[in-house]
Amino acid sequence: MNHLVALKDLNKEEIIELLELAEKFIDHEGKILKDPIFPDKKIVNIFCEPSTRTKTSFEIAAKNLGCEVINFDYNFSSIIKGETLLDTIISFEEMGIDLCVLRHTDSVIHNLIEDTKKMIFISGGEGAISHPTQGLLDLMTIKSKKGIENNNILVAGHLDHSRVFKSFLEGITNFKNNITVCGHKDLCKEYLDSSLVSFEPDLEKAVRDKDVIMGLRIQKERINEDITINIDEYSKNYQINSELLKLANPDCILMHPGPVNKGIELSQNAYDSENSVINDQVKNGVAVRMAILTKYFST
Ligand code: CP
Repeated sequence: MNHLVALKDLNKEEIIELLELAEKFIDHEGKILKDPIFPDKKIVNIFCEPSTRTKTSFEIAAKNLGCEVINFDYNFSSIIKGETLLDTIISFEEMGIDLCVLRHTDSVIHNLIEDTKKMIFISGGEGAISHPTQGLLDLMTIKSKKGIENNNILVAGHLDHSRVFKSFLEGITNFKNNITVCGHKDLCKEYLDSSLVSFEPDLEKAVRDKDVIMGLRIQKERINEDITINIDEYSKNYQINSELLKLANPDCILMHPGPVNKGIELSQNAYDSENSVINDQVKNGVAVRMAILTKYFST
């Protein structure tokens, strides 16, 4: 466990260990606890794609553990003058930075691991491939609200290109649950015939008897020219709203990794409903990242 690139690299016991550690960083009133045990450690956040939750929660998590945090400003860095990302990270190694949280459009993290000596890498999102820390916080949210097994889970929305869903699947398939997916078939091509999930094209049918419903953002930035989606039509067929939630189990939880396109994949009333645990996910993101930093600094 030197680097965290994908959830499939962790076994069930390692995932449970991280989730249990994360739970210890939240007190019985739901407050995140500070434990400044790493005053000599330095982390750098390198986000080459936009982020609000992941970047900020890593910063808070690191500060809660007593670390120093450097938020690398990609657009005002020497990368703009032509320096490579590798040379940038080697410079950070020489400056004494121990760990790099990296979000990048491409799969560059594996080569960077090969070509650097001491830096610990944690993926903060790798193109359309992987978002392991989001996967862990989603598992933590399900574990704390419903238990990690014996749930009927629905993931609805834009599944292809979703690194959140890929990582979620890599994590949740360690545990016994039934997983259904739903969405526009042009945005769910990878999962129409999957052995891991059942595809249900009708959202009204898909939400019935569900304990956990996760909405996913329509990723306009990753849709290519071959696919034409009418957003009004899409919202009519695939939006999760409070009327639909009534068809699910009464204590069903509603999740979404954020950012939410309100009025498209999720209505405001669903977001505000008692079923919604979207804000718990955000809070759990800090605890999970504290657990990850603790674990990777200690091994
Ligand atoms: N869920 C997620 O990765 O959010 P950000 O893009 O805001 O980090």
